[in-house]
Amino acid sequence: MVKFENVSKSFGSVKALSNVSFEVGDGQFIYLTGPSGAGKTTILKMILRQVVPDSGKIYFDGKEVTSLETKDVPLLRQNIGTVFQDFKVLPERTVSENVEVALAVSGVSIDEWERRVAHVLRLVGLTKRHRLFPNQLSGGELQRVSLARALVVNPKLILADEPTGNLDWKTADEIMDLFEKINKEGKTIIMATHHLGIIKDFKHKTIHLEDGNIKT
Ligand SMILES: Nc1ncnc2c1ncn2[C@@H]1O[C@H](COP(=O)(O)OP(=O)(O)OP(=O)(O)O)[C@@H](O)[C@H]1O
Ligand SMILES: [Mg+2]
Repeated sequence: MVKFENVSKSFGSVKALSNVSFEVGDGQFIYLTGPSGAGKTTILKMILRQVVPDSGKIYFDGKEVTSLETKDVPLLRQNIGTVFQDFKVLPERTVSENVEVALAVSGVSIDEWERRVAHVLRLVGLTKRHRLFPNQLSGGELQRVSLARALVVNPKLILADEPTGNLDWKTADEIMDLFEKINKEGKTIIMATHHLGIIKDFKHKTIHLEDGNIKT
């Protein structure tokens, strides 16, 4: 589903990635690990075409991301759901409305919104809390909202950047269980994480980065 071929990127004098190659197959769950500054977020941004490499090629679903025309970038991003450490929910909107925001910019017809929102809220266990506002929710619940929002457009791939970074251990484990469940239902997941305990508990392929290089 995702392939990097000899990808390099520098920001000024900082070499963020050097000659990185890897492949993520359909339905896989991959961890991206490594110390701060290793290049994890840069990899995720490259899959979204928010950052373009200096050299090398990136493929998503067989198409070259690096050579996409600007007009085709939104289509690429519709196939990718994103989840971040800081949740990125809209404070003035309810749980349901936060999820609908993703549908508003998708091609999904409005007749289908209610069914889709209900489905993903059930999946993340927030059905009973759908009318609440973000300030009425715990950190774990906020991360469930952002996961529901990522899933509602039915993306092929979920990119998660330190999704448990702001959560206590118990809540982090619950969120990880949820990612497991979503992966078992067929979604491909690439997750950047420092959370080494998680990697011990869930045995998935790990891509370990140090100073922009893959260490095996
Ligand atoms: N837009 C940018 N401009 C300048 N330097 C950048 C930019 N984006 C990333 N970098 C640099 O590239 C390197 C890799 O950054 P990246 O954010 O990918 O690391 P990371 O592995 O995600 O780190 P963390 O665990 O702290 O999130 C760092 O040295 C960072 O300072
Ligand atoms: Mg990062």
